[in-house]
Amino acid sequence: MQPTIAVIATLPYNKGAMPLSRETVVILGSGQIGRALHRELVQRECAGCTLLAHDEADVTDIESLRDSVAPLEPTIIFHTAAFTKVNECERNPGLAFAINARGTANVVELARDIGARVVYFSTDYVFPGKAAGTCDEDDPPQPLNVYGASKLKGEEIAGEYDGSIVVRTAEVFAATGRNFPLAILAKYREGQKVPVVNDEYATPTYAPHFASAVLDLVAVAEHPIYHLRGPEELTYYDFAQRIFAAAGLPANALVATTTERLALPAKRPMRAVLSMDRYLAHGLPSMPALDEAISDFLHRAHPSV
Ligand SMILES: NC(=O)c1ccc[n+]([C@@H]2O[C@H](COP(=O)([O-])OP(=O)(O)OC[C@H]3O[C@@H](n4cnc5c(N)ncnc54)[C@H](OP(=O)(O)O)[C@@H]3O)[C@@H](O)[C@H]2O)c1
Repeated sequence: MQPTIAVIATLPYNKGAMPLSRETVVILGSGQIGRALHRELVQRECAGCTLLAHDEADVTDIESLRDSVAPLEPTIIFHTAAFTKVNECERNPGLAFAINARGTANVVELARDIGARVVYFSTDYVFPGKAAGTCDEDDPPQPLNVYGASKLKGEEIAGEYDGSIVVRTAEVFAATGRNFPLAILAKYREGQKVPVVNDEYATPTYAPHFASAVLDLVAVAEHPIYHLRGPEELTYYDFAQRIFAAAGLPANALVATTTERLALPAKRPMRAVLSMDRYLAHGLPSMPALDEAISDFLHRAHPSV
């Protein structure tokens, strides 16, 4: 069981715009984004911040949420808990909707009862994708897979509560957890060639940079939905090449392939680049460059390659 991490700091808040001295924060879900948010909040000397793992607060169980969250009296709940295994969601839609949709309904019900705001995290997979241009917040969603459909349902539920905002992001990676860079490095370490699709596009989003941007956004947000993702668009194959080059690994270990040849259970948008205009209109900066993210990722991940 992962321990609850509670942080009580008395020093004044002095970084970014979010007035954390007045916020009591609960983070649901201790995955890549939950942990990055917690780390960033601690760095910003948040007055009170608690990260709750799955076994400490199960979003599918409203009583579990009441028991673990309500006594903390949060003013804001970062709801990062989700069933994120995209291919598994396709095989088990019941579980996907139970966690991503009904779980969100529970979080919103609790938040309403205790008067807390909710930040719900969603995905570019709510869109079917487009060959050119970007997807705006108000573009009609049309998910291609169960994961996207369950996250969209969660968005709709969150959207019914005035005190919530939805932050859509894409292709998140961090030095720990389950993500594309760690998966290809693990495959390489097993001595295998690494097939990577060269016809599907990503905007890789580094969790620590994302967490910082989220906190800045939450302080000024005035729309119900925002897009927030890494600054560069490239194919997964090109992303893999950049990681291998930065790690000093041989480029020829990577084998370009196609989505059709890989034949994954869940269909994905080939290209769904989220527009950042709404976020940038607040005068907030883009996230740091991808090479900076990769360099920090490799430094923290210490992959023994
Ligand atoms: N990763 C991405 O590329 C990406 C892209 C766009 C949007 N998002 C969204 O961003 C959010 C966070 O993503 P992430 O990358 O941090 O995902 P993650 O690393 O998979 O973390 C999700 C966390 O949710 C927990 N969880 C699962 N079922 C739960 C339940 N019933 N109750 C409480 N916790 C539960 C998981 O715990 P266990 O592992 O112990 O079950 C895990 O710690 C999700 O809403 C996701 O849909 C992610």
